[in-house]
Amino acid sequence: MTAPLPFSYQRYLAAKKSVDDRALNSEVGAELARRVVWGQAGAPLRVLEVGCGIGTMLERLVEKGMLYHGTYTGIDLDKDNISQAKTRLERFAAVRKENLTWKDEGFFLKGKNLKVRADFEAIDLFDFIQREQGQRAWDLLLAHAFLDLAPLPAALPGMLSLLKKGGTFYFTLNFDGATIFQPPLELDEHIEILYHGTMDARRVKGMPTGGSRTGRRLFGHLKAAGATVIAAGPSDWVVFPSPRGYPEDEAYFLHFIIDTIHQSLAGQSELDPAPFKNWVEERHRQVERQELVYIAHQLDFLGYV
Ligand SMILES: C[S@@+](CC[C@H](N)C(=O)[O-])C[C@H]1O[C@@H](n2cnc3c(N)ncnc32)[C@H](O)[C@@H]1O
Repeated sequence: MTAPLPFSYQRYLAAKKSVDDRALNSEVGAELARRVVWGQAGAPLRVLEVGCGIGTMLERLVEKGMLYHGTYTGIDLDKDNISQAKTRLERFAAVRKENLTWKDEGFFLKGKNLKVRADFEAIDLFDFIQREQGQRAWDLLLAHAFLDLAPLPAALPGMLSLLKKGGTFYFTLNFDGATIFQPPLELDEHIEILYHGTMDARRVKGMPTGGSRTGRRLFGHLKAAGATVIAAGPSDWVVFPSPRGYPEDEAYFLHFIIDTIHQSLAGQSELDPAPFKNWVEERHRQVERQELVYIAHQLDFLGYV
């Protein structure tokens, strides 16, 4: 088996960036651009991202010219992600030849037509909500590849309460019940059912999380939380080898996904260990041979409160 061990979560999130760039639903994104007046002079846009990981969404917004005058607050439970987000922002500014200063515990990113203050904090979402509710409000709330990890009926009302009245939410890459590999192997269907089962068994503070069908469930959960959806559409991950191989670091992304499935199903009583081991090893080899295709079905949402 030629998978690159040990796996790094931060490298996985970095490798995921190009996969996500392709996946994001362009119509939902266009509706976001129409709805949000990005950093009007005199009225900086206030952006909050929950579960921000290593800060790739901030980079994306700046790269696309979508956020150029405003503030960005990124929170994540994992302090290693937050530390990597800060390191990446320094590199990002250096590569783009932008000016980055550190003041009052925040970054100031300054360049031609760019004036953004960025703050990152390692904190649990529920603690953040409790601390900030009624204190601060944001214009735009982001949650990217995050809501399947959150207990939605408990988390959504609190998250949405951090938006100013009429503020916009942009919830992207919400997993929705399909994990597909090609070429097919005999165990695929059984593994998919068990793997999704591990997502559905996940509990946070004793509550079930969004789980394997977060995407479709969000329509109901958002409505129940008093939110209005104005755009929604698919944002499937589709990773395949082009004639020049996998783009960027996407081979690593695939190895990480296979390893995640491996770890989450290791010791499963409903799975015969030997054929499962063969499945895992064959999937890793397919990445090395540049044969593996991976598809995950996800949905993007845009709306307001
Ligand atoms: C799948 S990752 C996505 C990260 C990032 N949005 C991205 O797409 O690159 C989910 C992130 O949510 C964070 N997270 C999970 N539960 C959290 C919580 N209760 N509060 C804050 N962050 C949380 C994890 O640490 C992880 O970085």
